[in-house]
Amino acid sequence: MKTFATNKQLRKTIRAEKLAGKSIAFVPTMGNLHEGHLQLVRKARQVADVVVVSIFVNPLQFGANEDLAGYPRTLSEDKHKLFAEGAQYLFYPGVDEIYPEGIDKQCRVIVPDLTDTLCGTNRPGHFTGVATVVSKLFNIVQPDVAIFGKKDFQQLTVIEKMVEDLCMPIDIIGIETARDMDGLALSSRNGYLSKQERRIAPFIHATLQELRDAVACGFDCYIDLEKHAREKLKNAGFEPDYVSVRDARTLREVNRYTEQIVILAAAKLGGTRLIDNVCFTLNPAQDWGMLATH
Ligand code: PAF
Repeated sequence: MKTFATNKQLRKTIRAEKLAGKSIAFVPTMGNLHEGHLQLVRKARQVADVVVVSIFVNPLQFGANEDLAGYPRTLSEDKHKLFAEGAQYLFYPGVDEIYPEGIDKQCRVIVPDLTDTLCGTNRPGHFTGVATVVSKLFNIVQPDVAIFGKKDFQQLTVIEKMVEDLCMPIDIIGIETARDMDGLALSSRNGYLSKQERRIAPFIHATLQELRDAVACGFDCYIDLEKHAREKLKNAGFEPDYVSVRDARTLREVNRYTEQIVILAAAKLGGTRLIDNVCFTLNPAQDWGMLATH
């Protein structure tokens, strides 16, 4: 596996691969790789000839009070893992390479509507930071396909919309959330949890599953369901940010046109913010009358 720190070197190599007729799959990450990331790399290997992974902790997507400085950086372990998975190229740029004039002078990619809700409410600017860096990375790597995890469901939706709106010729593939045996979604931030918090953390997934079962059974008062779920999370020791039943395509309220539902949650456990979601297809037998009471 070759590692590149500059856009120029990476582009030159990818251009040669493309001229040789190879297809390129890209997995953007912020490093501290776990099994969830490795599943993205495995998928990338299945769908293209050449796999490029980036590791870049993007300052533009962190808020002032967030964990940018403390975000886990584990380059040498990450390299071993990527090598073992058969990734060909690692792009590991410094902040100056991505934002040569500083982040304040960087032009931004704003994806409206999808970003002013859910995580966007308490993390203003976060998705603009994500869309901006992902579009830059897409322009540097110029992949045929890019792979993202569904754990960051809102992020995936934002990127799909950006790619569509900006006519980027890239297929976006979303991969199911990788989980520990007890249901906790894998995340680099799980490492922040104390032993006691780690024991409680899977409750977020259990709560979402319970909600999914209720919705799938036709329980249609989503406001009550969401409130009940937030109470349960609070009683378990979480500080819930939101629990919300949404249309999976628009991230807005479920309506008569909804085909897929996503139930998303974000909650703090101690100092760690956890997110998770469950997504499912609405039973066509459930008519709109049963779903209209949000
Ligand atoms: O999901 C992540 O790790 C990051 O948000 C991404 C997509 C690599 C952009 O920095």
